[in-house]
Amino acid sequence: MSDSPPDHTASFGFRDVPANEKEKLVRGVFSSVARNYDLMNDLMSGGVHRLWKDAMVAWLNPQPRLKCLDVAGGTGDIAFRIAKAARKRGGAQLGKVETGGATDKKIDADITVCDINAEMLAEGVKRAEVLGEKSIGWVAGDAQALPMPDNSFDTYTIAFGIRNVTSIEKALEEAQRVLKPGGRFLCLEFSQVVVPGLDVLYDKFSFHILPKLGEVVAGDRDAYQYLVESIRRFPPQAKFARMIEAAGLSQVKIRNLSGGIAAMHSAWKI
Ligand SMILES: C[S@@+](CC[C@H](N)C(=O)[O-])C[C@H]1O[C@@H](n2cnc3c(N)ncnc32)[C@H](O)[C@@H]1O
Repeated sequence: MSDSPPDHTASFGFRDVPANEKEKLVRGVFSSVARNYDLMNDLMSGGVHRLWKDAMVAWLNPQPRLKCLDVAGGTGDIAFRIAKAARKRGGAQLGKVETGGATDKKIDADITVCDINAEMLAEGVKRAEVLGEKSIGWVAGDAQALPMPDNSFDTYTIAFGIRNVTSIEKALEEAQRVLKPGGRFLCLEFSQVVVPGLDVLYDKFSFHILPKLGEVVAGDRDAYQYLVESIRRFPPQAKFARMIEAAGLSQVKIRNLSGGIAAMHSAWKI
């Protein structure tokens, strides 16, 4: 794992690019994969990403009527799970839809998905329509400058999103800012394999098979090459935990998934 690049550059996969260009490059990646994103996730992980996301929401244990923010929420995988879990516990519909006319639909949601990419959000909105899920609000915004007031959410989640931002530190500070005191931070991200032998197999799969799958299924080898490289550049578990603490969040706990291929970091704003 290499050290972070200097301040004026940011890592884009294995390349260091001017920091102010990374956002555009990342946007390009997700605009390109948005239509195939959900299918590709299943193919690439053999469906295991679903178990990881289930584990995240099980650990979050969302209660009804909490205000939940899912950042870099893309097509809504985490938000749909939170809605389902909270509804199961409360037995009631979350949020409400107020219709002030066919074109003036206002959603007062308990769950907000925020993502920088309109194409990813649009896929999420389509899924919500198909599922009849009305408890989720969809907001375009940058994890590093969230369009939300201070102290406004009970939970902040981010799944496979934070490694894509230009400044992880800024995104963590924003998480701390928007959480209410007593609020919960939970991050799911690819991490460092901790099982000897698994790392070799995982490397072979990542560098040889994944980009090929991206090329054949999504017609975009580069996007999936970026995915693999960005995973390798992301700080390992303990270092990321220290970054979370440095942003002012407390009681950081780590849970590895699939031998550290992914990991969850939980923390609280106190
Ligand atoms: C790998 S996807 C994860 C989507 C979803 N959380 C999931 O687990 O399926 C990464 C998402 O991060 C979003 N993203 C990248 N940079 C971002 C930023 N600076 N602010 C907010 N979202 C960002 C991308 O648009 C993309 O939707």
